[in-house]
Amino acid sequence: MTYQIHTYTDAVKTAWAVADLIAQLANKAAKDNRFFHLAVSGGSTPKLLFQILADNFEKDIPWEKVKLYWVDERCVPPTHAESNYRMTFDALLYKGFLPEENIMRMKGENKPEDEALRYEQVLVAQLPQADAYPQFDLILLGMGDDGHTASIFPHQMQLLDTEQSVAVGTHPQSGQKRITLTGKTIHKAQQVAFLITGDTKASILKEIVLQEQTAEKYPAAHISSADGQVHFYLDKAAASLL
Ligand code: 6PG
Repeated sequence: MTYQIHTYTDAVKTAWAVADLIAQLANKAAKDNRFFHLAVSGGSTPKLLFQILADNFEKDIPWEKVKLYWVDERCVPPTHAESNYRMTFDALLYKGFLPEENIMRMKGENKPEDEALRYEQVLVAQLPQADAYPQFDLILLGMGDDGHTASIFPHQMQLLDTEQSVAVGTHPQSGQKRITLTGKTIHKAQQVAFLITGDTKASILKEIVLQEQTAEKYPAAHISSADGQVHFYLDKAAASLL
């Protein structure tokens, strides 16, 4: 696995670079007459990316050929302040660029175990399969201050290797249940890109990118992809120790 580091002056330029990557990959898929299957993370970092897509990429992306999925979702209703879907809707989906049938919402309001099974079936129905796992074109990941990614937290490293393609995770502090893609699904993606900004993650990022022994405990250190490269889109603050 090799790490491709892409560093930009600030969070806006970093988000623009990821928006351009999405546009490039989506247009290539459309040219090849296939859907672009994109899974996005929640939290706060991607909000800027979604706003940039909403404000500038209506015409630059063939949205009718984009199918949108989530990497993870909090087990709350879609109207809840902590819902990743709600954050994405408020920043991008409200624009209506994507046909409803192209939006594969993880239903946080469902019983977690049932929703993990349901979403597994959605992925089987929608995505090409690689060794019996759904294969996304691009998975966008974030990283928490504890080195978690998706909703795979340090106390649940088994979610990196479980046979399931979608599982139920638990937030270590709040106990909040989460629906999450598993390591096996993430590793099958054609491309995996982290979008990480801000200085709070610089230290963990250094451990991961420099592949230090101490990074073993971070789920984000165990991410790979089908193309053998993991991309890190970073602002200067996040990359300050590299
Ligand atoms: C979530 C995310 C999660 C996120 C990290 C980083 O549901 O919270 O999917 O994995 O990417 O927690 O979050 P921030 O972008 O808010 O730092």
